[in-house]
Amino acid sequence: MSGAANGRGSKADFPGLLNSDGSAWHYLDTAATAQKPRVVIEAMARALGPDYATVHRGVYTRSAEMTLGYEAARRRIARFIGGEEHEVVFVRGATEAINLVAASWGRANLRPGDRIVLSLLEHHSNIVPWQMIAERTGAVIDVCPLTADHRIDLDALEGLLTPRIRMVALAHVSNVLGSVLDARRAATLAHSVGAKLMLDGCQAAPRMALDMAALGCDFYAFSGHKLYGPTGVGVLWGRAELLEAMPPWQGGGAMIEQVSFARTTYAPAPQRFEAGTPMIAEAIALAVAADYVDAIGREHLLAHETALAATLRAALGGFNSVRLFGPQDSAGIVSFGIEGVHPHDLGTILDEENVAIRAGHHCAQPLMEALGVPATARASFGLYSDESDIAALLRGIERTQRIFG
Ligand SMILES: Cc1ncc(COP(=O)(O)O)c(C=O)c1O
Repeated sequence: MSGAANGRGSKADFPGLLNSDGSAWHYLDTAATAQKPRVVIEAMARALGPDYATVHRGVYTRSAEMTLGYEAARRRIARFIGGEEHEVVFVRGATEAINLVAASWGRANLRPGDRIVLSLLEHHSNIVPWQMIAERTGAVIDVCPLTADHRIDLDALEGLLTPRIRMVALAHVSNVLGSVLDARRAATLAHSVGAKLMLDGCQAAPRMALDMAALGCDFYAFSGHKLYGPTGVGVLWGRAELLEAMPPWQGGGAMIEQVSFARTTYAPAPQRFEAGTPMIAEAIALAVAADYVDAIGREHLLAHETALAATLRAALGGFNSVRLFGPQDSAGIVSFGIEGVHPHDLGTILDEENVAIRAGHHCAQPLMEALGVPATARASFGLYSDESDIAALLRGIERTQRIFG
């Protein structure tokens, strides 16, 4: 495995970074989904091929081995985030993790008039599940505003706090702005009124060293596919005593202790939350992705991506028609707009230049409204990104400006 102490994985490890003719593709949409290193692709192929069998049920050797592999993946992910193995629930992705907490914890704990605090920059997946449970329980949602440099305003959060707040759910790193939350302070604030803190770690898990105990949150969600792993698998970490007290949210095989028509009892967490045949190969390949990322070192990775974001911001600052969003020290994600050019037009022209960026609302429509734009252009870096990607993007922007006069 390659991966140097400069925070980079070798581009050569990622077949997805090449066009079909073998030329380089400048992929700047890692915040949407990361390209996969060869070791992850191979782990998937092995798990779906010669190693494949179901887990938790089979009495034959292959199934027993697969069960060991699946549970070893749970332990690996627990180690990756500084949690305990029985606190790691495998889910389909961050969206499902947040829906699980909203549906299960929310149903058990929210009463009419209780309050849930979200921030203005949340991804729709950290808004809509809370709206759905608020509607069912009579809870109310409060929205925490942003600072002038587009961070979640924790002073404003402090002002919102009341004993009616039961849940504070915030992005650890914004998928649009790259702003990093002071998670420890958010935890202290939430806990000061007896609320729980759920962090949406989708954009933090791929680039920041995580330690659940040190963060002080109660729930943490992220998706495997943004962490250089496969789609279809993600992680919900929950504090053991909270998971243990939560009712199941989906029923089926694998989540039960005993079933009869008179009465069904449920397995302990985390199995209680994993109804049905799980995403076996995906979880095993995700553990390999965690190994790949850790071989590079997340502290190097964060420094590398933050430096690339700073370089891009400085270069974009040189264009007087460019408007930059987000803080100076954004974590590997840069959102911007060009006067007179719709982000979709920019994205299309850049595509002709072999550069892939994201253009749109990034599943954060309330944030777009607050920024006063329908959409932004977003360049996001991964461990394989380098200065050549920035140079290609800047060439594309110059060409776009020539086209639009
Ligand atoms: C901050 C954030 N939260 C949640 C999600 C949803 O992740 P998924 O679609 O993998 O469930 C994303 C994905 O874009 C994200 O960036």
